[in-house]
Amino acid sequence: MIAAYQKSCQARVDAKLDELFQAPRPELDLIYQAMRYSVINGGKRVRPLLVYAACEALGGTAERADAAACAVELIHAYSLVHDDLPAMDDDDLRRGQPTTHKAFDEASAILAGDGLQSLAFEVLADAQRNPLDADVRLDMISSLSKAAGPAGMVGGQAIDLGSVGQWLDQSALEIMHRHKTGALIEASVRLGALASGEADQLALRALQEYAQAVGLAFQVQDDILDVESDTATLGKTQGKDEANHKPTYPALLGLDAAKHYALELRDLALHALRPFGEAAEPLRDLARFIVERRS
Ligand code: IPE
Ligand code: IPE
Ligand code: MG
Ligand code: MG
Ligand code: MG
Repeated sequence: MIAAYQKSCQARVDAKLDELFQAPRPELDLIYQAMRYSVINGGKRVRPLLVYAACEALGGTAERADAAACAVELIHAYSLVHDDLPAMDDDDLRRGQPTTHKAFDEASAILAGDGLQSLAFEVLADAQRNPLDADVRLDMISSLSKAAGPAGMVGGQAIDLGSVGQWLDQSALEIMHRHKTGALIEASVRLGALASGEADQLALRALQEYAQAVGLAFQVQDDILDVESDTATLGKTQGKDEANHKPTYPALLGLDAAKHYALELRDLALHALRPFGEAAEPLRDLARFIVERRS
């Protein structure tokens, strides 16, 4: 079920994303190529999947969620391009291909990331691409900008870089993970719910509870895979967290306890969905997928 749902949402968002990378004039070919290279390259599209699944859980159609699905993936792709730069994690491989700064150069990678970030908000603001009420579009822009910015993902990346070589206790590690990865995952679920046009406060609160658990579980599993997967399966170099002296859940708790924690978070996420019926099945599947995935 999850595989079929995942495939159809991936194809859907990939087609929408691909429309964004036509250079409006030949002088801009290089920057558009670098952006396209950073996005159309086989990511799992977990954040767009969460957008579509949250929209569906509240009875909304996929059409209503397309712009939000693109926007969260654009922010995510930008974050990966910058995360891989020599000044940050210094990675050569991403999604099984050379990182953007390796395939192009560092300046192009910085600009591609900047461009993708702006494009995310352009898509949300655009009434043609995102044909929802203006107040819904504004809420989406506000939610995503907060989640991506210094109080969210960027703040988390700053904590991550400031923590290299340091020992963090579990609460400090949780704060870092909730910011660098959780915030964008929470925003993905919120944007999907808003896209449905049916999001009341009660539903938004339950979905936020789900998203907080899933967001933390996602980064715990990412840390686990960095230890126990392999480079070919991951599509990124295995073992980089230890090599870069990053504080992680497996380093703090040990591998078994980290796995146990990821499962606990999955159960919390499933529990938060108890008020929802059948329509939330894709969200439930995603919670399971996030802790069972091998890449
Ligand atoms: C990797 O994200 C970076 C993290 C925030 C942990 P994903 O595992 O979603 O990467 P892709 O998009 O599938 O490549
Ligand atoms: C990345 O975390 C989080 C963001 C890009 C915001 P990681 O540094 O652990 O991601 P990977 O392992 O390189 O994909
Ligand atoms: Mg990093
Ligand atoms: Mg990294
Ligand atoms: Mg990682």
